[in-house]
Amino acid sequence: MSPKKVDNSSRYSQLEAGTQRARPVLHEHAKEIQPYNKIAKLPIALDETACESSVANLNQILADTMTLRDMYKKHHWQVAGVTFYQLHLLFDKHHGEQAALVDAIAERIQLLGGVSIAMAADVAETTIIPRPPRGREEAPVQISRLLEAHEIILKEAHTMAREASKVGDDGTNDLLVSDLIRSNELQVWFLSEHLVAVPLLHPEQAKAVSSGD
Ligand SMILES: [Fe+2]
Repeated sequence: MSPKKVDNSSRYSQLEAGTQRARPVLHEHAKEIQPYNKIAKLPIALDETACESSVANLNQILADTMTLRDMYKKHHWQVAGVTFYQLHLLFDKHHGEQAALVDAIAERIQLLGGVSIAMAADVAETTIIPRPPRGREEAPVQISRLLEAHEIILKEAHTMAREASKVGDDGTNDLLVSDLIRSNELQVWFLSEHLVAVPLLHPEQAKAVSSGD
């Protein structure tokens, strides 16, 4: 051991002395405090079966909403063509709105006493939205893919809203109807209008007049 090294280590232990209680305790492991699919009921005037039913439905729509959110970011990055800039911005706006829905759904699951699905691998195993390819696609294909995902989510949201209402879970019904359904419907409108084949420069009627038809 060189004299320089001895000096360094003694200086280090002098610096550490007295800091025991301020140092983080690292590499801790323990059994999870609540397994997935179990309900730790809170005093919210809903019975356990109502919470269980809503949590199961919300976790499905959470996985699908996370998938749609991520698909928006994929398309935000990978879009190409003359409409690049407007689609690049629109896809990112919708991504942000879907991210807000993800947080609202996940937090509702927790307040119902459930456990929110969270990690990408678990989401991939759960979602019913078809997986897009890794590569880039044309803008109309990207938009069609997003519209299909929106419709899958809207279809299940209508069914789940009715089920929540039936078990007396008004909060879940309100989240699904007021936030999720309305936001998805609005985004569908914004996307769909891009797939209407209207001419960019010359109206069809003007073309017909100039050609003598
Ligand atoms: Fe970006």
